[in-house]
Amino acid sequence: MRKKVSVVGAGNVGATAAHWIASKELADVVLIDIVEGVPQGKGLDLLEAMPIEKRDSHVLGTNDYADTANSDIVVITAGIPRKPGMSRDDLLNTNYKIMQDVVGKVVANSPNCILIVVSNPLDAMAQAAFKISKFKRERVIGMAGVLDAARFRAFIAEELKVSVENVTAFVLGGHGDTMVPLARYSTVAGIPITELMDKATVDRLVQRTRDGGAEIVKYLKTGSAYYAPSSAATEMVEAILKDKKKILPCAAYLEGEYGINGLFVGVPCKLGARGLEQIIQIKLTPEEQAALQKSANAVQELVKVIGA
Ligand code: LAC
Repeated sequence: MRKKVSVVGAGNVGATAAHWIASKELADVVLIDIVEGVPQGKGLDLLEAMPIEKRDSHVLGTNDYADTANSDIVVITAGIPRKPGMSRDDLLNTNYKIMQDVVGKVVANSPNCILIVVSNPLDAMAQAAFKISKFKRERVIGMAGVLDAARFRAFIAEELKVSVENVTAFVLGGHGDTMVPLARYSTVAGIPITELMDKATVDRLVQRTRDGGAEIVKYLKTGSAYYAPSSAATEMVEAILKDKKKILPCAAYLEGEYGINGLFVGVPCKLGARGLEQIIQIKLTPEEQAALQKSANAVQELVKVIGA
């Protein structure tokens, strides 16, 4: 039987995630939104592209959660995006309300699914989804590290004029201004970038990565990035559906790992059929540990506001 992935939110991130998932033939896709007509129209449009793409993924757009029943994975993108000058944190209360409504309906229809949370502020919304769903931590994972690492990788590849395929990057922490890109674990063909660039260049690329979301919001003015965020969510979907045991930076509920307890923060995670199968722990330098703790504190502040 084909796998089923539902995507909640038919805005730019959700619709583009549906596009990537269907065009890679990973699963049948249900695109759901409260706005009437938009998921139906985008879903049908995607369905009609499948013969050209030679893909047998079925795509359905709907307003009815019954259509999402028994999904293997539900990707939650619902929420409002940022406008220029806004931080991800400014979305907190509005998106928390949306999350409460959405997660209840998702769980009622797909009690065994794995949740991938994409809505911002990412780590706090993942925490909200975890608490509302009452799922085990294995089945609630936040997308952010894959996106932040991809941005870092793109900038490194551009700077050094090498293939993006040669570049790996390592990003820890929350998906916010305090995220922690780790240069010494970011490599080109296995060589740490600290061997290939001077410190000023590394620092510049790290800062651009931290500001990566805002850089796009500034250009778009009416919304935030969506190609790379939805591509990142799709990589996580693929790792789970194909049981790849792929290590990706994701937001996970930490229970003492990295000295953090009871909080979603970005760490290296092994994704497979069971969802979050392992958190990979590495030894951090005192400075890195302090930067991670600062990032976790920023997430904790938001979580406190919504009481999740
Ligand atoms: C970004 C938003 C989507 O980083 O969080 O682009």
